[in-house]
This record gives sequence, structure tokens and C-alpha cells, in this order.
Amino acid sequence: MNQLQRTKELHQQSSNWLSNPGSIELSAIEQLRDILRWHEYRYYVQNDPLISDAEYDVLFKILQKFEQEHPAIITSDSPTQRVGVGLANDFAKVEHLVPMLSLENSYNADDLLDWDRKARELSGLETIEYCVEPKFDGASISLIYENNLLTRSATRGDGTVGDEITLNTKQIKSVPLSAKFSSYGIEQIEIRGEVLINKKNFKAYNEKLMEEGVPPFANPRNAAAGSLRIKDPTVVSNRNLEVFLYHVSFTTNTEKTTTTSLFPSENSSLIQQPKSHSAMLEMLWELGFRSPKNELKVVKGINGVIKYIAEFEEKREELPYEIDGMVVKVNDLQLQEKLGMTSHHPRWAIAFKFKARQGTSKLLSVEFQVGRTGAVTPVAKIVPVMVGGVTVSSISIHNEEYIKEKDLMLGDTILIERSGDVIPQIVKSFAELRTGDETNIQFPKNCPVCDHELFKPAEEAVWRCINISCTAQVVERIIHFVSKDAMDIKSFGEANVRKFYDIGLLKGIPDIYRLDFGKIGQLEGFGKKSIDNLQTAIELSKSQPLHRLIFGLGIRYVGETTAKTLANAVTHLFDFTNLSEEQLIQLEDVGTKVAGSIHRFFKDEVNLLMLQELEGLGISLKNQKKQVAENDTLAGQTFLFTGSLMKLKRSDAEEMVEQNGGKIVSGVSSKLNYLVVGEEAGSKLEKAKKIQSIKIINEEDFIKMLSK
Ligand code: IVH
Repeated sequence: MNQLQRTKELHQQSSNWLSNPGSIELSAIEQLRDILRWHEYRYYVQNDPLISDAEYDVLFKILQKFEQEHPAIITSDSPTQRVGVGLANDFAKVEHLVPMLSLENSYNADDLLDWDRKARELSGLETIEYCVEPKFDGASISLIYENNLLTRSATRGDGTVGDEITLNTKQIKSVPLSAKFSSYGIEQIEIRGEVLINKKNFKAYNEKLMEEGVPPFANPRNAAAGSLRIKDPTVVSNRNLEVFLYHVSFTTNTEKTTTTSLFPSENSSLIQQPKSHSAMLEMLWELGFRSPKNELKVVKGINGVIKYIAEFEEKREELPYEIDGMVVKVNDLQLQEKLGMTSHHPRWAIAFKFKARQGTSKLLSVEFQVGRTGAVTPVAKIVPVMVGGVTVSSISIHNEEYIKEKDLMLGDTILIERSGDVIPQIVKSFAELRTGDETNIQFPKNCPVCDHELFKPAEEAVWRCINISCTAQVVERIIHFVSKDAMDIKSFGEANVRKFYDIGLLKGIPDIYRLDFGKIGQLEGFGKKSIDNLQTAIELSKSQPLHRLIFGLGIRYVGETTAKTLANAVTHLFDFTNLSEEQLIQLEDVGTKVAGSIHRFFKDEVNLLMLQELEGLGISLKNQKKQVAENDTLAGQTFLFTGSLMKLKRSDAEEMVEQNGGKIVSGVSSKLNYLVVGEEAGSKLEKAKKIQSIKIINEEDFIKMLSK
């Protein structure tokens, strides 16, 4: 059976099962495993899945259930056996079956021509067939399979002895736990490859680290290598590691042959072992491994090699993973053997290194920038240097911990790297080049923008300015304050905040309630109607429920849910000034980190003054729900809303009715006083029209009633 027939068969079976998962029987468990392995192969190796993640999960869960009910039938290569819950790597030292040598490097066409000439002289051939493939920039690993099962995986280490990382390697979904090498008559095989983290995942992971205040990795290579060194395999499993397998270093043959196989098909007779490197990579691919089958090119003669390298380099930026060059290999395995090795590297292969995206520079000074959340970030000013076609003159050095870790001093010579579309990073400083004139980097004690004292929570790496009125943060804070989920000041929006700030109308949050509408009216694009709308929205926001105000203050760690919990805990916002951290921790979902942050915010003089200012401007700091309606404009009146409101959220409008002493009723009856009608009102309106006592009003009328 060929690959195509096999694909159709597996797809058919998988579709049948997915349309009726209940029909999967325990006796078909090995077939179910095969199908799951095949879907993993389609997804992680071929990058061409045939089912959705959810459908995969349906099948996976059935397998898990079967195995839980019958633990005796679990096999070590079952797709369920990747996740090593409760197991830990001990990184035992292991000797490689064949030393993991490095490759000779070349940097230009002349180097390659020289190398080819030597290889031709040694082999006595006029032209040599080469296989050219990417040089993956990750961490190299070795995989050993014995009797079709993955039995050991190790890092390169010093080339002779590496660290055993089998549990971690099993977390890489493109590494098969078993493969039918027996159909090639292979009993034991050692495969080499590179573990990678792709650019997208790397960027996302680094961003997450930075958000947590943890120093990011300088490049995907360090991130991949670091991930392989994690003790807990379940953590590794979340790193989305990938692999490319590019070399078979060792095989032993079996006497007898097994005939069951997934890749290739069952009942196949013994397949001849490959005689060339490219055919070897093809074999690995067929057996379920991610080899660079689609990236490689087989060419006769070195000129074709040079051409392909140039073509591939053009694509470098668009590749989803990092490469740092190409590797040229003599394709014929017999010829490889004949050429042999020097003590350092094989004569049958050479690496071609692309232009470095690294550069050295000097750290001149450090500036401290205050971000919109108050985080103070040190930014190194360096002697401008070209890195991968871009001039770099300043570079973020994240936080104090990072400075310590990279051992950075003013005046240091530093190594810089820019990987893909990732912002440049410092790889290291050269301590050995110091002259003694270098000085330590001093972190400021006060905000470089507003001079407010800086604060660093114990559990964090980042110093912050918590002055809500700090000009470095104020624009972003106002944008957050007026936003939909906070005070919901309609028609304000980011663009207006920036505009009003730029012309000096807004300097802080309280200015929202002192806007000079006369001046705004003179601005382009502000007609009477838009000013009216803005004014109404600002007015309405004064009586927004307390949780919206709390969320709007942008207190660190206080999201919408916490804001609601907090609002419910007090009758007035200033009650927080009397609550201790211990008391705050008693609240639902408030941990030490959140309690600390709230406590600090309400102990801060500058913040309290601003809140007093807001109260003076008519903003309610009270928890209206906990009080008897402070305002009885609507006392004794009942309301019902129908259709879609344009200016208010239905729930907010209802809340406003209650805050003003009114009541919401659930249906149209003679007990209803006001029906507030929005767009596209339906049957409620029709019904209300028939009851004379009901006053039918629109949203505008409702807002007017409130502002009376
Ligand atoms: S072949 C005996 N092929 O580059 C030859 N290596 O300095 C084994 N590398 O340590 C290596 N991509 O980690 C080979 N397509 C590729 C490669 C590759 C990346 C790494 C590998 C090796 C280093 C050579």
C-alpha cells in the first residue's frame, strides 16, 4: 500500500469515528493510537492538519479513558505518554554513541570553492553531488531509537558527553515516540537534530516574561536551549518546542523484520536502506520525523550550491524559525565515509554562515523611561552599531535583575543581537575587556518624570511610579478612565484625549470634569451636536457605579472583577484608606499582591488629593447600592427599557434608575410608569401604547429626567 492510499484509509477511519465516537471499541485501541499519531504527524511535521484541535481532543480523550480503565494495555509510545506528570529530569550524563562534532565554517563563495576543490581532490571525482539544507539556529539534540521505540535523548554537551533529556524531548510533538525503523531492517539508530522555538512563539513568550518583569531571552536559540534544561517536563510542554532532524549518525541492523508499520504501510516487505543523505532525510520524513525534506536541494557541483544558498538567504526573514546559515553535505553516504573526519569536523560537510545579526558596541549611558503603567525601564544608550541592516543606538535593558544577570557596567563592551523581527537585545558584556574605568549603573530612587518616590513590590523585578498624575502616564491613564469598561464616557475616546492633552485642556483625570467646551467648540470637527453628546456623557459618568470608578483608576492588578469585589466591600471609596492589607486579603480573589497594590494606592497622598478633587467636581465616590438612594429624583417611579439604547448600556441605565430611587419592573402592566424606548422596540411598546397611564419616553428624555 502506498502513502496516498494509507492517508486515505487513515482519514476515512478517523472521519467515521469522529461522526460516531461512541462506536470506537476497546479492541481498536492500537488503531486509535495510530490515528492519533498520524494526526500529530499531519499537524506538527507536515504542517497540514486534517482535523481540528477539538476533534483531535475527542479521539485523545477516548484513548485516555480506555487506558485509565485498562492500565495494563498502556504502551510506552502511546500518544498519551508524552506528558510526564510527576516525573522530573535528572539530567544524567550520557556518552554519545558517536561524538557530536561541529562543522567547519565558511563565509563566502571562495571558501566554498576551496572546500569543494579539496573534496574533489580527495575523492578523485570531477563533480560531487551535494545536499544543501538550512542551518537551524537552535539547540542540538540526539535521539536514540531501539526496536522502534525512542529510548534516549541527550543534549550535545561537550560533544562526547551530554545531558539526558528524554522526558523533555517527549514533550516536543514533532518527535515520534516510536517509528517503524524495523521496516528498513534497522534495530538501533541515532538521529541528530535541532530543537527550535519559532519566531512567533519566541516573541509571545518574551513579551509574557517582560510583562511579568522577568528578563527575556536574547534569542530563540537561548530560549530553546533553556527550555531543554527545565526539570519539570510539564513546563517544557508549554514552550511549543519544535524540531528538525537532519542527520543519522549511527545504525545497527536487525536479523529479522517486523511487518507491522504505520509509516509506511502495514505488511510491507523490507525496504532498502538509503544510500544518500537526502534519501535518509526522506526516510525519516516517511517514518514520521520532521526532516528538512522540503527545504533541502540536491545539486551537482558547487556552483549550484552557491546559487541555492543565495536564493535561500533571500527567504531568511520570512521563515517562521531562525536559521544562521546553510549546511552543505556530500550526498553520497559511501563518499562521506571515504572523505572521513578531521579531529574537529567531518570533511564531507561544511556550514555556510550568513551575515551575523550580531555586533559589538560600547555601553555609554543609561536613561530611565517611564511607561504608561508607571514601570521604569532602563534604556542603554550605546555607540551606534549596524546589526542585520539596522542601526541600533539604544536598547532596553529591562530591569535591575537583568543588569545584574548580564553583568553590565557603564563603559562596557557589549555583544548585541537582533533576531528576526525581535527587538535587539544584549547577549553579554565582555568583562575581560574592562579597563577599570567602568562604573555601576545606578537606579534612580525617584521617578525621572514627576519625582514621586519609586516603589518595587517584593515579588517583582520592576520599579514603578504609582503617582496616578505622573505626566508620563497620564494620557494612557485618562484613556483608560474614559474607556467603555471603566467610566464609559461615550464620544471621548483615545483620539480626543490625545488632542485635548496636546493643546493643554487635559492635564489629569479631574480636568475631564472641567473641560472648556468653548475652546473645544473652536476646534475643527467639533460641532454643537458632538459637544452636546460629549457633555451629556461626561455628566452621566459622574454617577457611574463605584466599581467602574475603581477600575478606571487603573490600580495595578485591579481588573473589572476585583473592582466589583472592592466596590461591594465599602460604602465610600475613602473607606479603603482605613483598611489594612490583612483586611483586604479577606476579600474574595484578593491575594497579597493585589492587597499590597490597593493598600499602596490609597495610602498615597497624591492619589488621595486627586480623588478629593474628583468628589468636589461631583463624581460619586459612594457605593450607591449600599446606601439608601442618595437621590430621590425617581422615587416611587417604575421603569422598563425596551429596544436598543444608543447612549447607555441597558444594565447601567437600570442601575441609574435604582440609584435615583426608582424601580425596574419586568413587564408591561398598569404598574409601570415609564417605558423607555430604544431603537427597534417591539411588542412591549405595542402593549404599553394600550395602557394609558404608561408614559412612553425615549433615551434622551430619560437622561434629561436624571440630570434634573
Ligand atoms: S549536520 C556531523 N545539519 O550546526 C554533522 N548540523 O556547527 C552533524 N546544525 O552542532 C551536523 N543545522 O547543531 C547539521 N542542517 C544541519 C544543521 C546543523 C544546524 C547545527 C548543529 C551542529 C552545528 C554545526
